[in-house]
Amino acid sequence: MSCLFPTYNKWPVKVKEAYGTTIVDDDGKKYLDFVAGIAVCNLGHCHPTVNEAIINQLNKVSHVSNLFHIEGQEEVANLLVSNSSGDAVFFCNSGAEANEAAIKLVRKATGKKKIITFLQSFHGRTMGSLSATGQEKIHKGFEPLLQGFTYLPYNDSEALTSTMDDDVAAIFLEVIQGEGGVHEATEQFIATINQLKDKYNCLVVVDEVQTGIGRTGKAFGYQHYHLSPDIITVAKGLGNGFPVGGLIGKKSLIDAFGPGSHGSTFGGNPVAMAAAYSTIQTVFQESFLKEIEEKSNYFFNSIKNVLSDCKAVKQIRGKGLMVGIECHQDVSLVISSLRDKGLLVLNAGPNVIRLLPPLTVTYDELDQAMTMITAELSE
Ligand SMILES: Cc1ncc(COP(=O)(O)O)c(C=O)c1O
Repeated sequence: MSCLFPTYNKWPVKVKEAYGTTIVDDDGKKYLDFVAGIAVCNLGHCHPTVNEAIINQLNKVSHVSNLFHIEGQEEVANLLVSNSSGDAVFFCNSGAEANEAAIKLVRKATGKKKIITFLQSFHGRTMGSLSATGQEKIHKGFEPLLQGFTYLPYNDSEALTSTMDDDVAAIFLEVIQGEGGVHEATEQFIATINQLKDKYNCLVVVDEVQTGIGRTGKAFGYQHYHLSPDIITVAKGLGNGFPVGGLIGKKSLIDAFGPGSHGSTFGGNPVAMAAAYSTIQTVFQESFLKEIEEKSNYFFNSIKNVLSDCKAVKQIRGKGLMVGIECHQDVSLVISSLRDKGLLVLNAGPNVIRLLPPLTVTYDELDQAMTMITAELSE
């Protein structure tokens, strides 16, 4: 019997090593990895610069406490701030924690309690972040939830407009819903959010845990829109596999998170900072982001072209290297068959195949994946 809680249905792949876009199992079988730890290993597995930075930092000091000035925190915060709409950063260890911090911050800063989130959203598994999540299946069995959340249909400007009032502390959204099926916000929906934010003086929180750190071809996904979030939450790709998360907030919010208001023993740990600094120093370079955009254009054009006559496919969506292929039927058998053949992909809801390759994926690897997916869906 396993000594683990069975919270995950494990895949039948025992990973022995991984590099770049490749995973090798304990039989020596190689897989093309279009999961990347669920949008985490954005620079590919075992990236030499990130690994070297982690090892060097481990050999200097691995942990002290936030009672000390920690090497790297100011530098990582500086990079996050100079590439976003924010002015200050709080570090934590995961996406759920970053969203938990955001929930606390919007309430403390505005003195208001109501938070609007969206159906099919996913914000994490802690009590606050699961209460923010607009999916009943995530709530089930964990009630009572944290109070104050209203879940509205995504991209529904009318529903949002008619629900807003002066008591709303924040509108909290993913600009592309990842777990919910790779659904992008429309320009019109974001324009409505901007209008309502000004009218009702509420905050806008963008959960960039999955869409951030270059995944969509910009430093942050919201940068595809005319939007200046008050709070951005990040994790996943920030440490390229080393656990680290963060909340990036505007200047006006700094006083609400004063000494003693919030904290985390491990948040901003020196090794996490070494991993984050070496990761985002590469990802945020203009030339790197441009390459993602070029690969994305190539991939979307090619896959839309080859799958245009495929009867199994309903729609292809996404931005950058976050791709959703919506099918007419459940995709679990397609995903397991692709895995047997050596391509690792994910689902996003029952009918969507989700591709999240490392951002360093090569054109040849994109072609290989495309050929395998096309063959599988055409069968
Ligand atoms: C958009 C989004 N927010 C939050 C989370 C939760 O992040 P974590 O698993 O690091 O707590 C996830 C994880 O999939 C996510 O996709």
